[in-house]
Amino acid sequence: MSTESKTDSRSPARPFWLRGDFAPVADEVTAHELPVEGELPRELAGTYMRNGPNPKDGFSPHWWFGDGMVHGIHLAGGKARWYRNRYVRTARFTGAEAGSERERRLRGGGTSNTHVIEHAGRILSMVEASLPMQLDRELSTVGAFDFGGAVDTPMTAHPKRCPLTGELHFFGYQVVRPYLTYYIADARGRVISKREIEVDGASYLHDFAITERYAVFFDSPARMIRDWGAGIPFEWNDSHQTRIGVVPRAGGKVRWFDVESGQLCHTANAFERAGTIVLEAVRSARFEAAPPYLHRWEVDLESGRTRERQLDDRLVEFPRIDDRRVGRPHRYTYVLEMLDFVDGAPTKSLLRRYEAETGTSLAQELGPGQIPGECVFVPKSAQSPEDSGWLLSFVRDRERDISELVVLDAGHFGAAPVARVRLPQRVPFGIHGSWVPAVDEAHRSWAAR
Ligand SMILES: [Fe+2]
Repeated sequence: MSTESKTDSRSPARPFWLRGDFAPVADEVTAHELPVEGELPRELAGTYMRNGPNPKDGFSPHWWFGDGMVHGIHLAGGKARWYRNRYVRTARFTGAEAGSERERRLRGGGTSNTHVIEHAGRILSMVEASLPMQLDRELSTVGAFDFGGAVDTPMTAHPKRCPLTGELHFFGYQVVRPYLTYYIADARGRVISKREIEVDGASYLHDFAITERYAVFFDSPARMIRDWGAGIPFEWNDSHQTRIGVVPRAGGKVRWFDVESGQLCHTANAFERAGTIVLEAVRSARFEAAPPYLHRWEVDLESGRTRERQLDDRLVEFPRIDDRRVGRPHRYTYVLEMLDFVDGAPTKSLLRRYEAETGTSLAQELGPGQIPGECVFVPKSAQSPEDSGWLLSFVRDRERDISELVVLDAGHFGAAPVARVRLPQRVPFGIHGSWVPAVDEAHRSWAAR
């Protein structure tokens, strides 16, 4: 493709996010009826979408600061109907004028490069410095979305949907007051609760968690010292106590519980068990420059005691679960295990499934030179048990110099993929994604709850 020569993506002088498997692609491609190896399950009716930074002029000063590009592959009837990749057309991307720099970032979507989800029929592309951008089902940008004016802060890229109520729980954090705002939107997408959480400043709060009755925040020493726009705005302050904040979803004050100094990277899940909140997440000892491990905290709400332990010594990130278990005990956590690095970039990785209660884990081998990204779990049906479904991930095959969508049978984790779909261009390593069921399937699934 023309992309490779334009960006000189193999030059070792470039930082890792601009070269090799991370290098941006220049073209927006549409391809239909993609070649499939194996058999695509007919139950998979919908679109796998994944967001990631893809700087439009080929340069960004940090991996986090490239323009968002969403790659999508639509599956139906056992076929891979189409692939598309589209830039998220933010104000920054189009060059639209919109008041001050802060206003433009907040209302114009910023880089919008971190995650993409569906809620209440809207597809939202997100970055935590800004409001989300709405996309249509073919990945074209509709515009910035502020929940009808109800959200006036940045919005996290890691909202949590409660599988019991259909509510979307999310927050916004920023360097100015209100530092931390907790929102709940109902299943129809209307904001029904907006509450300021009292803190004396913002910390790097990339992710959070919910249980059936609580929202769970992680306040770390990575303090936000300026607004986004001039590099990474956090500074590690050892004098700031690391703590877990527990907020009743139904209303009431936050309670803080001190824990060991550290940074929560990504949440796997949280749940309540016998008066205790269990939080499972990837933790590093410090912001950015420390290795990430899977970790569990237990917070006894009555005594106030906390317990924490590292679950494994493997380097992992991007934990995902069956989203129907959000807020309730889950059995399996799927992660991306990173086995080797060059200049800070993972060059060898695999998918691993943890079963936290038994302390065991299982690796998914894909073959030499094959590097997966985050995987998402898709249940076979609304009622199927936790491991009955598929795992989808974009995989880079270095030996064949291609990218594929790989579909694994979650019930036979570790076995060969059930299907591989060859993509028409390289998909750069990216960040987070979601399965967006076809409209009919989404309605059936909701009606069955
Ligand atoms: Fe994230």
